Amino acid sequence: MASNSTSIPSFTLHSTIPLPSGKGQIPRLGLGVCASAACTPSCVSALKTGYIHLDTAQIYGNERETGEGIRQYLSQTPSAKRQDLFICSKLWETGTPPNSTFSRESAIKGVESSLQLLGLEYIDLYLVHTPRPGPESRLNGYLGLQDMLKAGKVKAIGVSNWAPRHIEELMAHPEVEVLPAVNQVECHPWNQQKEIYEYCKKKDIVMIAYSPLTQGKRLGDEVIKGIAEKHGKSAAQVVLRWILQRGMVTIPKSDRESRIRENADIFDFELDEEDLAKIAKLDEGQKANIGKSIGFGLEAF
Ligand SMILES: NC(=O)c1ccc[n+]([C@@H]2O[C@H](COP(=O)([O-])OP(=O)(O)OC[C@H]3O[C@@H](n4cnc5c(N)ncnc54)[C@H](OP(=O)(O)O)[C@@H]3O)[C@@H](O)[C@H]2O)c1
Repeated sequence: MASNSTSIPSFTLHSTIPLPSGKGQIPRLGLGVCASAACTPSCVSALKTGYIHLDTAQIYGNERETGEGIRQYLSQTPSAKRQDLFICSKLWETGTPPNSTFSRESAIKGVESSLQLLGLEYIDLYLVHTPRPGPESRLNGYLGLQDMLKAGKVKAIGVSNWAPRHIEELMAHPEVEVLPAVNQVECHPWNQQKEIYEYCKKKDIVMIAYSPLTQGKRLGDEVIKGIAEKHGKSAAQVVLRWILQRGMVTIPKSDRESRIRENADIFDFELDEEDLAKIAKLDEGQKANIGKSIGFGLEAF
């Protein structure tokens, strides 16, 4: 990863990390829209707050609503430009697990469908959403995204929920020319993903932390609450700030305007060594994976 805590103080909502292929930059904070019950207004609200990064996926079923949010924002904000925004979407599997697949063709069609639903001419980042369908599928799905990268339909490609072994296996194939720019995985103080974190740092792959707020499940933690009180911030703000100071990107979801603003109000304080040491001790590893109930998380693959 391209950053560490020494570069933290100058962060803003528009701060970015260069993507490893040398093309483009990813904003450190974005809005996630998985299971959003008000996707279009939430996207507009986030973009008006100053977010420039939105994270959607085929499987969320709301690429059209996300695109509508982008369109409404651009039409209501004459100074705003599409090229200043960063939009991520993800390729879903064909068929039902355990028999689901990716193919080169399904990946190309997937990107074309996302472009149409989002109403965009290009997508900034496109990910193979899971490693689940196995080595051949993973390779073919990724090769399809690589084709779309070469065609200029996507600006960067990456993976999600992949363990280091999946990336190593992919990169060993002679047809793979581009290292995944990012790996998007569940990550928060209770599941710190140390193995993936160290691997991504070594390979210069940007790590994106999803479900950063544990979908609200662990925000009552006494340690986090104590740190929040010390800084005059909320538990959610402490968790998001920890992720940024670790050099990762994150994409909290909210449908409430006040929380969309709260989650972006994390650039005026800094966690100190004492705070970081306390948070380091919260790690429970994969045991704390909140996505496992839906078959997600690295243990599942
Ligand atoms: N690649 C993958 O496989 C994958 C998997 C899961 C998620 N993701 C991405 O990551 C994004 C975020 O993850 P997530 O949606 O699972 O969960 P999350 O961001 O950890 O948590 C969202 C939940 O927390 C609540 N919330 C938001 N801000 C809050 C605050 N300041 N204080 C208290 N509660 C707050 C939200 O409720 P309200 O909406 O009512 O505010 C919502 O219920 C997703 O939207 C998606 O884009 C990717």
